[in-house]
Amino acid sequence: MVGDRALVIAVDGPAASGKGTIAEGLASAYSLPYLDTGLLYRAAAARALRLGLDLSHGGEVARAAREIDPQGLSAEAHALRTAEVGATASRIAALPEVRAALLSLQTDFARQPGGAVLDGRDIGTVIAPFAPAKLFVTAAPEVRAHRRHLQHQARGEALTHEQVLADILARDARDSGRADAPLTPASDAVLLDTTHLSIEAAADAARRIVDTALAKGF
Ligand code: C5P
Repeated sequence: MVGDRALVIAVDGPAASGKGTIAEGLASAYSLPYLDTGLLYRAAAARALRLGLDLSHGGEVARAAREIDPQGLSAEAHALRTAEVGATASRIAALPEVRAALLSLQTDFARQPGGAVLDGRDIGTVIAPFAPAKLFVTAAPEVRAHRRHLQHQARGEALTHEQVLADILARDARDSGRADAPLTPASDAVLLDTTHLSIEAAADAARRIVDTALAKGF
């Protein structure tokens, strides 16, 4: 809350741009609840894989998406961050039935009375277009691949830099090219390029963007 008004912050951007770390930092700085919406798609993907569903069948995968437990997501987060689950999440996220199945969970979170921070691909455009503060976080694909590669290495996943870069470029193309809620900045989003920024510098820049939005009133 800021005064008597709910502050909603939308953070969008491509894979490994730093948006998750930035969104978490903003949630802590402004004492707001935080939802990583990518985890919803990842949980739906993991469930669909576990059940052996046909990943092109929107109805079946949407049913699996409706069965996920949003409360259990943070406990499961580590297991959901594998390259396989990420790639599958991006495939099923292109299915309109799956997006519809996960919609109200996200819009309810965004509209809770105290305000919220959400990160994803379509927060500023579809889930919370009313958010007074919108950031679109980017970084050069090579740098994003390097960051993601380090994360995979830390998890013991044997992937080369080239494989991670190819996965990131394929995900960018799928997320930006889909017809339903493609990855694109909202017209009033502020661009934050983290290519040359440390985590601290990116977090500072993000807070300045939100403070500027707040100073304009909402
Ligand atoms: O952000 P993360 O990499 O965890 O997201 C996994 C996948 O989920 C993305 O590649 C994207 O296809 C999908 N996603 C989405 N809309 C969101 C969040 C994630 O389509 N709001």
